[in-house]
Amino acid sequence: MNTFISTLMKKMTIDEKIGQLNLVTGGMAITGSVTNNGIDDNIKKGNIGGIFGLYGTANVRKAQDEAVKNTRLHIPMIFGLDVIHGHRTIFPIPLGMSTTWDLGLIEQAAHIAAKEATAEGLNWVFSPMVDIARDARWGRISEGSGEDPWLGGQIAGAMVRGYQGTSMKNADAVMACVKHFALYGAAEAGREYNTVDMSRIKMYQDYLPPYKAALDAGAGSFMSSFNVVDNVPATGNKWLLTDLLRKQWGFKGFVVSDYTAVNEMTNHGMGDLQTVSALALKAGLDMDMVGEGFLSTLKKSLSENKVTVADIDLACRRVLEAKYKLGLFDNPYKSIDPAREQKDVMTDENRKAARITAEHSFVLLKNANQILPLKKSGGSIAVIGPLADNKRDMLGTWVIAGEWEKSVSVLEGIKHVAGNNVQVNYSKGSNITDDTTFMKRLNFGPGMVGLDAKAPADMIDEAVKTAANSDIIVAVVGESQSMSGESSSRSDISIPESQRNLLKALAKTGKPVVIVLFNGRPLTLNWENENAAAILDVWAPGTEAGNAIAEVLFGNYNPAGKLTTTFPRSVGQIPIYYNHLNTGRPYSNGPTKFKSNYLDVSNDPLYPFGYGLSYSKFTYSNVKLSKTNLKGNETLTATVTVTNTGSYAGEEVVQLYISDPVASVSRAVKELKGFKKINLQVGEKKDVTFNITPQQLKFYNSQLKYDWEPGEFVIQVGTNSAETKTAKVQWMR
Ligand code: NOJ
Repeated sequence: MNTFISTLMKKMTIDEKIGQLNLVTGGMAITGSVTNNGIDDNIKKGNIGGIFGLYGTANVRKAQDEAVKNTRLHIPMIFGLDVIHGHRTIFPIPLGMSTTWDLGLIEQAAHIAAKEATAEGLNWVFSPMVDIARDARWGRISEGSGEDPWLGGQIAGAMVRGYQGTSMKNADAVMACVKHFALYGAAEAGREYNTVDMSRIKMYQDYLPPYKAALDAGAGSFMSSFNVVDNVPATGNKWLLTDLLRKQWGFKGFVVSDYTAVNEMTNHGMGDLQTVSALALKAGLDMDMVGEGFLSTLKKSLSENKVTVADIDLACRRVLEAKYKLGLFDNPYKSIDPAREQKDVMTDENRKAARITAEHSFVLLKNANQILPLKKSGGSIAVIGPLADNKRDMLGTWVIAGEWEKSVSVLEGIKHVAGNNVQVNYSKGSNITDDTTFMKRLNFGPGMVGLDAKAPADMIDEAVKTAANSDIIVAVVGESQSMSGESSSRSDISIPESQRNLLKALAKTGKPVVIVLFNGRPLTLNWENENAAAILDVWAPGTEAGNAIAEVLFGNYNPAGKLTTTFPRSVGQIPIYYNHLNTGRPYSNGPTKFKSNYLDVSNDPLYPFGYGLSYSKFTYSNVKLSKTNLKGNETLTATVTVTNTGSYAGEEVVQLYISDPVASVSRAVKELKGFKKINLQVGEKKDVTFNITPQQLKFYNSQLKYDWEPGEFVIQVGTNSAETKTAKVQWMR
């Protein structure tokens, strides 16, 4: 590779080199106010290294032909897209994918996405998004894997493996792009694109591990984030892009900016376009997305000695290396195969995988009196709510190539799985929202959210009548597609008022209400938790939504998903996360004066990290340890016996947490260090064993040294972060 690229670069003019650093949008995915014009002409001039937001073999072939046939050096372009949770066949949103706690399913989903994306000419995906998020107001919490750094890292690795396969040269492999580097999920007040300010110790301990895990899994590229890190925008932050990413971590791939993030450094107060472009290049940014700051200013900066040929060469080399690793110099048309476009996309097999993944992602938040599963043997069900007879909102955020017309609505799924013995009655009941100002903001694409011709009160009346004629109510409510994702921060994270009014009217009928909840973030659900008989959180399940939901409602699959984000009781508790530090005045047993708590709400979340019910019941034994005094690099085993004491076969995610009560720095009250997903028949019991080594006791001290300190450790195993069995060990050097 090195010789090939050196030989090629010797032939390149400085303009051709700068051209490689320019990434433009083909217009099929626009997330800012700027787009690119004159693309054809610029390709011919050698001014473009890659295109994103262009797919379909005919489109990609046409563009690649220009680059390969009509430029002086015939250098192929790279084709990227936001393939976030599936390409055509849409899987659950990433937050939902994370609640499966199933790395095999997650890797498979990424692999299927890669297979479909390559079948449509793509070779690069802007995923995984690995930003840790502890603030549910931030709409992009939906795009990540929640609040835990270790679990986030496990998932990041699985996704990179799924996308890149055994070799990026494979016809069905794409290059992953880890984003958003770094700390984007910690935007102040959960407000999109906002400032981030964080201590180094928190960065290293809680926010950086998933990026590093993705790198260790071999990710070929990174995307810089919009936010500042230590008051310098990530896109121009040399400490971040060079000292940390390359020197400390050894990253060998290339870094692309986010959409116009180079230009946006001007608003951050870093200078004009020429200045910020030079700053970004020198910081270690290799490719400029959309803004064309590199293209339009780097040559001038070179003539003014603000950047060097070596700076440009380095970035150019990294971009060319990526193309080489993808096999594009061997075959620029590698993933441009119309036959595959016909046969590898939206197959029955892919849809089945999406359905199974969706079933595994659902989290049963409440199930009073075992109201679920629903009976298939007779009776009637009222299916009510603005998300019930709805295909578009099944897909969730970021579905550039997803075709919502092909998704399965909840009503369709229920009718299909219920069969002829159950009568299914339907009413819409409410609009997604009645607030027209809010609605306008949600409608960034045509027809996303609308008002029904009927008045809200009439819709509710009709729904109440439908409910009165049925035995049980399934209320399908929550957030629509554009309420979460990029640029979708909310200060109030409850179910919109129109839908809450509907739920209140339904509850008054006295019929049991089962809520099927759509959400791209944790919501505040106190009223729902008190008044609904059951709540099944389905996030946004993707193409097979309705089928997956019905399979679970009727008990053909017993839900086993577990939360990867804490659900607050009130938005005022945010940021709320399980792995927090202790304070000098810890809260215990309810708010009081002069403790670290609120006067008006408890510190406890509504649903803790790791929480999720089953139709069955799992009973945990005490933790049995192989030893209670250990030394050095010994291995400790911790075993619990888990018994299925309920009346359904099912899966359980058994979780291992460790606490380090005394150390040189204040440590989190507990940290997830392992999990095992097991399957138990009715009455069956299994021993679940975790091997623990000092590796899992390590943390960053105030010198940012990653090591463990001897002393006492509390080993905790349980069904969620708040309900564990504990045992103590002494571990000495
Ligand atoms: C902006 C988003 O922040 C990023 O996640 C995405 O990949 C790019 N736009 C490209 O669409």
